[in-house]
Amino acid sequence: MYSEKVMDHFQNPRNMGEIVNPSGVGTVGNAKCGDIMRIFLDIDESGIIRDVKFKTFGCGAAVATSSMATELVKGKSIAEAMQVTNKAVTEALDGLPPVKVHCSLLAEEAIHAALWDYAEKNQIVIEGLSKPKEDIHEEGEEEEY
Ligand code: FES
Repeated sequence: MYSEKVMDHFQNPRNMGEIVNPSGVGTVGNAKCGDIMRIFLDIDESGIIRDVKFKTFGCGAAVATSSMATELVKGKSIAEAMQVTNKAVTEALDGLPPVKVHCSLLAEEAIHAALWDYAEKNQIVIEGLSKPKEDIHEEGEEEEY
């Protein structure tokens, strides 16, 4: 059912943890399954993602997609990180079962939410980025997982 890559990233997640004083942090949740994902970004002065970490309270596919998504954005520019869509993450994992595709959306949305936070803090506009749909920060649920 799951590809070897999915199993690998689920069993040995890359970049799990958090960044103290991140340049941007984004938390998103999937209302249906209740899973939550938080992405921390450390972005340097030239706009390169120097480090990225994630925390996921969710299913195996959510862990695997978070792990792969962080690998795909690490060391990249913001514009390149914007190309890391759920499709790109799913492809990099050699696919996900159809019922699990929504899990990969969390990773894309969490990265976007973290970039949005970074953009707001630095008063910049990131092309193609719109306000995150489900940033649970706005609902006052910080640190509750
Ligand atoms: Fe909720 Fe996978 S089942 S993110």
